[in-house]
Amino acid sequence: MILGQLAMGIFPYVPGLHGVLSGGTGGTNEARYCYSIWLRHLVHAHRSGLTPVPPAVVAELGPGDSLGVGIAALLSGPTRYHALDAVRYASPDANTRILNELVELFEQRADIPGDKEYPRVRPRLDSYRFPSSILSDELLSTSLAHERVRAISRAIENPNGAAEGNGQNPGRSGFLTYHAPWKDDNSPMTSSVDTVMSQSVLQNISDLRPVLSAMLKWLRPGGIMSHEIDLSAIGRAREWNGHWRYPALLWRLMRGRRPWFLSRRPHSAYLAMMTDTGFRVTLDLPVRRASVLRQQDLASEFRNMTDDDLTTCSVFVQAVRP
Ligand SMILES: C[S@@+](CC[C@H](N)C(=O)[O-])C[C@H]1O[C@@H](n2cnc3c(N)ncnc32)[C@H](O)[C@@H]1O
Repeated sequence: MILGQLAMGIFPYVPGLHGVLSGGTGGTNEARYCYSIWLRHLVHAHRSGLTPVPPAVVAELGPGDSLGVGIAALLSGPTRYHALDAVRYASPDANTRILNELVELFEQRADIPGDKEYPRVRPRLDSYRFPSSILSDELLSTSLAHERVRAISRAIENPNGAAEGNGQNPGRSGFLTYHAPWKDDNSPMTSSVDTVMSQSVLQNISDLRPVLSAMLKWLRPGGIMSHEIDLSAIGRAREWNGHWRYPALLWRLMRGRRPWFLSRRPHSAYLAMMTDTGFRVTLDLPVRRASVLRQQDLASEFRNMTDDDLTTCSVFVQAVRP
């Protein structure tokens, strides 16, 4: 039994996790995925009435295989993008390839890749049409100007350089910083960021409170954070929520020496932590899924779980720094 569970932890069997097995992290090695993720977060932020949309300064936690989500952001208006990861996965070559493909997608005003192409990706949208009411032709003619795209390309080759130039064209490297592993020491980002986002990342952070505090500090008052959080076992168990069956010791063995691993927090724990940190949660969009497991089937530390937590497999949360 224990050996079987360990094997499941070591060899996730869900199709689509080959990226993880081959040393990658998931989706951001595809430009269409990056385009889709950025636009989904943007559309939701716009719908919530959060301003400014598009934001001027964006930070992303855990970009993974490329900085493509942030590059998609830069191509739609923002003048700064800060990437913060636990591990340096993204390379200038991958970022440059993704940049070129993203420019084409924006130039074509391509529809947002939706449920047929990415059936497991959340948050979903009511419409996957290109959001022209947010990204007007006028805005895109500036954000996709040849010189500006060349400057973004140079910043990709040399991130973390000193910012130069003006706000619209920050110059050689001012568009982009990439810190991996990142540390929150006297960050120049303090009170400067309009939007902090992440896609399928927060569930992997075991010590989340200091990370939430860092995000609160980076945001300007009124700035928002926007996170898609996968609450499922992501292939580490037979049942979609079977990760809550494993006793803590076994889970630690399964983690081994990996730099990050599923934290197993349920839905309500995220909302409580965000509120405790000082955020005002403005959007809580859970996805429910039937559970064949009952509370008594779970490991002792999860047996008090509410029905809501037991049946919530992912959540999209947006929260404001008051
Ligand atoms: C499942 S991958 C998701 C990657 C990408 N966001 C995507 O949508 O494909 C999880 C990412 O979270 C990152 N991560 C884990 N712990 C982190 C932390 N404490 N701070 C920042 N990133 C972290 C990992 O390094 C990895 O890049």
